[in-house]
Amino acid sequence: MVSDAEIARAVEVLRRGGLIGLPTETVYGLAADASNAAAVAKIFAAKGRPADHPLIVHLADAAAVKDWAQSIPGYAWRLAESFWPGPMTLILPRRAEVLDVVTGGLETVGLRVPSHPVALRLLKAFQGGLAAPSANRFGRVSPTTAEDVVRELGASVDMVLDGGPCQIGVESTIVDATGEVPCILRPGGVTVEAIAARLGVTPTRPRSDSPRAPGRMASHYAPETRVELAISGTLASRAIAALSDGLRVAVLVDKLPAELHPERLGRLTDRLVHIPLPRDMEEAARRLYAGLRSIDREACDLALVELPDESGMGAALADRLRKAAGQGDRMQ
Ligand code: TXA
Ligand code: MG
Repeated sequence: MVSDAEIARAVEVLRRGGLIGLPTETVYGLAADASNAAAVAKIFAAKGRPADHPLIVHLADAAAVKDWAQSIPGYAWRLAESFWPGPMTLILPRRAEVLDVVTGGLETVGLRVPSHPVALRLLKAFQGGLAAPSANRFGRVSPTTAEDVVRELGASVDMVLDGGPCQIGVESTIVDATGEVPCILRPGGVTVEAIAARLGVTPTRPRSDSPRAPGRMASHYAPETRVELAISGTLASRAIAALSDGLRVAVLVDKLPAELHPERLGRLTDRLVHIPLPRDMEEAARRLYAGLRSIDREACDLALVELPDESGMGAALADRLRKAAGQGDRMQ
């Protein structure tokens, strides 16, 4: 439990331009006062993140959107009404006062009302916007516990509020709401199907040949462990081949296939690490980042995983697995 005294202390830290480890329902954020350029600059330094990458501004409620954005389309309000507080970020035309350091110099701003009770308590007490990216070093896996934040960022964060493990486990859905039709820039905690059902239109996805906005450039996520996406049905044979080559292999899968049971593998089983990734997509999303972290801790040479079916939360899961395998945008 986070006490009222801790919330008050966190507000003090933010007012003095410090950084807070912020629990949200998606992942932990690294928060600073979004109207203090020097404070926001500290976020980039702590993360080792390029300065042209825009940050999401977290707000206490949808009414605060007007302080940050303008020309807000009707569908954006409908989405806000249905999915806030919650794991959805709206990209909207920014108001002129919003700091360039927050938007990466773009004419738009990302806004989100998180649903985690600790985040909401802090936002209400702070009475302003909090710029917060995920609280990991650039290119690494997002933290889903307070301990992860401390391990990632250590002394560069002034205070970490411990709100327990994150309930959603992957980042928010990013909806570009600057056009006539919403466009999903990042699949996340609110499914594309839920957005389509609410609006009665299917959101678009960015065209693969469209120029990449800052923060969406293709580059390699380089975890210590190589992650490989196994073609459906080939995970066991790929694992056996790698184990036979002498590698220490992690498999992210719900249940070990029969071919990988100890009695079938014999001595190779010593080099096999099973990281359970539940079949239920919501449960899998909740556990994904802890799973990716444990691959590194177990000092594996290779991690194998099959892409899930991309409906519902499967879309967010597949997106993050592609990034972990270096086949998507770099993790931020
Ligand atoms: O769930 C989340 O969204 C978490 C929690 C802490 O709220 N935050 C998060 O922030 O994932 P970050 O910085 O790790 O990822 C935000 C993404 C980046 O890819 C960034 O480029 C994009 O949002 N973004 C932010 N503002 C944008 C804008 N104005 N236009 C386009 N993309 C934007
Ligand atoms: Mg991030």
